[in-house]
Amino acid sequence: MKRTMEKGDVFKQIMGHYPTGVTIITTIDENGEPAGLTVNSFTSVSIDPLLVLWCIDKKTSSFETFLKADGFTVHTLASDQVEACWAFARKGSDRFKGVNWYTSENKLPIIKDSLGTLECRTVQRIDAGDHIILVGEVLDLFKNDKEPLLFYNRKAGTIPKDW
Ligand SMILES: Cc1cc2nc3c(=O)[nH]c(=O)nc-3n(C[C@H](O)[C@H](O)[C@H](O)COP(=O)(O)O)c2cc1C
Repeated sequence: MKRTMEKGDVFKQIMGHYPTGVTIITTIDENGEPAGLTVNSFTSVSIDPLLVLWCIDKKTSSFETFLKADGFTVHTLASDQVEACWAFARKGSDRFKGVNWYTSENKLPIIKDSLGTLECRTVQRIDAGDHIILVGEVLDLFKNDKEPLLFYNRKAGTIPKDW
């Protein structure tokens, strides 16, 4: 007999077929070491003041680091950053080895050549099921003239030519 899909499975199917951009979000831990992960739960929240949010899984190895940190950097990824997108989602890889990065005046790690960069101060930490929502106020931001990286159905790609 065919098993009916669980609600959670349908939920994953729906979210997997919801196209998004992709970001890498970084911070610095108490020992000055950079931490970061690939994230597509990022969204803008408010213009005045400038606020953004994203959700972090409580099981992520850098969860405590992000929870304690004063801030984080959101990098909206460009179409030529697909390798970094997967590297920052892979368990155990030395994520920062493969990217060109530096520490900003706000003491946050910045990955060079991203499409957009938003340095944020964490202003709210909201408990939400198996994730925490981190809300950040944008301190500094800049944008490069590049095409975005898109995420859909477990694949990362570029904007179709007929867009
Ligand atoms: C496209 C994409 C989007 C992701 N979005 C999120 C997200 O919004 N929040 C999150 O906690 N993990 C997200 N992940 C998973 C994390 O990148 C991954 O679990 C994390 O890097 C694992 O880190 P760890 O090995 O240090 O635990 C996403 C992964 C991919 C490939």
